[in-house]
Amino acid sequence: MSRIAYVNGRYVPHQDAAVHIEDRGYQFADGVYEVVAVADSRLVDAGPHLDRLDRSLRELSMKSPMSRAALMVVIREMVRRNKVRNGIVYMQVSRGVAPRDHAFPPDHVKPALVMTAKSVPPAKVAAGVGQGVRVVTTADIRWQRCDIKTVALLPNCLAKQEAKTAEAFEAWQVDGEGFVTEGSSTNAWIVDADGNLVTRHLGEDILPGITRKTIIDLANRKDIAIHERPFTVAEAQEAKEAFITSATSFVTPVIQIDDRTVGNGHPGSVASELRALYRQYIDEECGDPVH
Ligand code: PDD
Repeated sequence: MSRIAYVNGRYVPHQDAAVHIEDRGYQFADGVYEVVAVADSRLVDAGPHLDRLDRSLRELSMKSPMSRAALMVVIREMVRRNKVRNGIVYMQVSRGVAPRDHAFPPDHVKPALVMTAKSVPPAKVAAGVGQGVRVVTTADIRWQRCDIKTVALLPNCLAKQEAKTAEAFEAWQVDGEGFVTEGSSTNAWIVDADGNLVTRHLGEDILPGITRKTIIDLANRKDIAIHERPFTVAEAQEAKEAFITSATSFVTPVIQIDDRTVGNGHPGSVASELRALYRQYIDEECGDPVH
């Protein structure tokens, strides 16, 4: 089946989709993005993802490419046209196309919007869930506004490559004081000795993950205590459980951090319960299937 991409108002064959060489996203990483999961044809937390997109745009004084309602129409159309039942929709907004100049372009320059959609077999998502995954740790060398979901992901790419080279699934980034900030594309969690969930507090050094927020809400409903605070690599290695969350990995147990096994080396019960609750939440609270 041929994939379809959306580029500035047009649905085009994926392999022909292209942006201008002077798109500011391309030249300056002057753009923001979102990834929305599709599970059994449902859009997972589309509203909160679009809220975060609005915030990212606002923080960078970028214009919105279209209204929320119009954006939802394109997202749904992309899911349908690409026949995605399980997978993701990727959307990126850049400040637009203009002759290269670091300062912002004139007001009349419109933001550029591209969108892709891709199927990801559920078996692939679940691959890490059965046995759990390994993570490695690496210095967090990113800028000071990691709360904005920009396409300036080079440090994240370097971190993910470190993980890949080490045959791990993810790299947890560590700040100057030895505390874990977050993964290269996921939020990081542990379960402490008392069964409390621990994940770093929100701030400018991590992305406010949408999955993170939903998991906090679901844990609250189950009266699982949550401590939003920093934790060190050593604390994580000695924790009962560890796991990661993101739109693409949902809740994925971590069974090894660097060379240390976490817990008994198998996915923990809290992570497994949260993953099941998250699945149920998608089925029951993420609206009707798109197709
Ligand atoms: N990444 N932290 C970082 C640095 C991320 O890039 C992501 C998401 C998350 C998790 O956020 P959410 O739960 O909203 O997906 C945390 C996406 C999936 C990506 O870059 O592909």
